[in-house]
Amino acid sequence: MTHRPIDQSPASRRSFLRTSGAVGLGVAALGAGVGAQPAFADDSSAAEARPTGTRPPVRTGTGLDRLPHPLVVAHRGASGYRPEETLGAYELALELGADVIEQDLVATRDGHLVVRHENNIAETTDVADHAEFAGRRTTKTIDGTPLTGWFTEDFTLAELRTLRAKERLPQQRQRNTLYDGRWPIPTFREVVDFANARSRTLGRQVWLYVETKHPSYFRSIGLPLEERLADELRRGGLAGRRGRAILQSFEPSSLQRLAKLVDNPRIQLLNGPTTQPYDFALSGDKRTVADLVTPAGLRWMAGFAHGIGPTTQLIAPTDAAGKLLPTTTLVADAHAAGLLLHPWTVRNENTFLPADFRRGTDPAAYGDAIGWARFLYEAGVDGFFTDNTDTSVLARADFWSAHGVG
Ligand code: G3P
Ligand code: CA
Repeated sequence: MTHRPIDQSPASRRSFLRTSGAVGLGVAALGAGVGAQPAFADDSSAAEARPTGTRPPVRTGTGLDRLPHPLVVAHRGASGYRPEETLGAYELALELGADVIEQDLVATRDGHLVVRHENNIAETTDVADHAEFAGRRTTKTIDGTPLTGWFTEDFTLAELRTLRAKERLPQQRQRNTLYDGRWPIPTFREVVDFANARSRTLGRQVWLYVETKHPSYFRSIGLPLEERLADELRRGGLAGRRGRAILQSFEPSSLQRLAKLVDNPRIQLLNGPTTQPYDFALSGDKRTVADLVTPAGLRWMAGFAHGIGPTTQLIAPTDAAGKLLPTTTLVADAHAAGLLLHPWTVRNENTFLPADFRRGTDPAAYGDAIGWARFLYEAGVDGFFTDNTDTSVLARADFWSAHGVG
């Protein structure tokens, strides 16, 4: 991966699209939308109506070609507006137009999959207010990091269900605290059933985007995630290429294991360039993310994944002041390796935006998140994870309109 500036002008972009056909699979993926209606999920006839030869080969046969391009993935639901990873956050995300709703999975002591960003539930539930669980507070080392709190693997599902979710970021998202205590921690099964029910009532396919969290750790304590996830996908009719679930993990071995269990599309998550997948640390694999985003690393990942989910910094890095540096070649390099890109995470608040898109000095105030989203679309990503579905949908409509789609 090297750095290069990109020309953001629409004229340049249209020209790029017209001439991109033979450049790489993912570049063709971007070109697939030009001149065609965006293919909305349940409407396979619209997808079929795309000009032949312009479909992205990497998506064909994975089921992803039944989704709009680029994708709007509701990161933990509409987590900009509701406590994350709750049915309330998922419901709102669909109302705001998300194509896909994201879940992070961890396990309970009695082997159920529940939807939480991490197994430490101190920050996102009211567990600290439950005197009966005071004795469960403990310190553990998870993926090499000591953490103090309450952990899902120390609770039965019945016990966890007595807790209520709360806003993770009350400093930035005070309004969301209005909903603290309203929803329980959902089981993954509940979310699958919710997605199936909403697919029927909305008349469109609701997709899930499911991450195995700390998969090596959970396997090490006798609560492996992958087999349970595969079982739940099969039970809910979401397994396989005609299913409606994309699978993701920061640990390549988790995706490789999932590939043997179910034939759903798989996305390799990538954190900052100096980090390592934790299963690499366990196995003695010395490669870092910087190694994985080289052409050789990308080719390796293409052996078991359909795409990558990089931090936006790997595509659009910023300096110490938060100002954008020249865009890297990762989009082109990944596409050339046949990999889609779904970076994370786009949020409305200034504190999460590159300095170029901030407005004013209040870290919690909204900046130009629509401009930032548009920047990423123009950079050629195939979708991204967003806390604010509505602004990302608007930015995508602007992007489609600018490129004559729809
Ligand atoms: O899974 C995509 C993105 O959510 C990865 O980061 O930490 O929010 O799960 P995280
Ligand atoms: Ca995630």
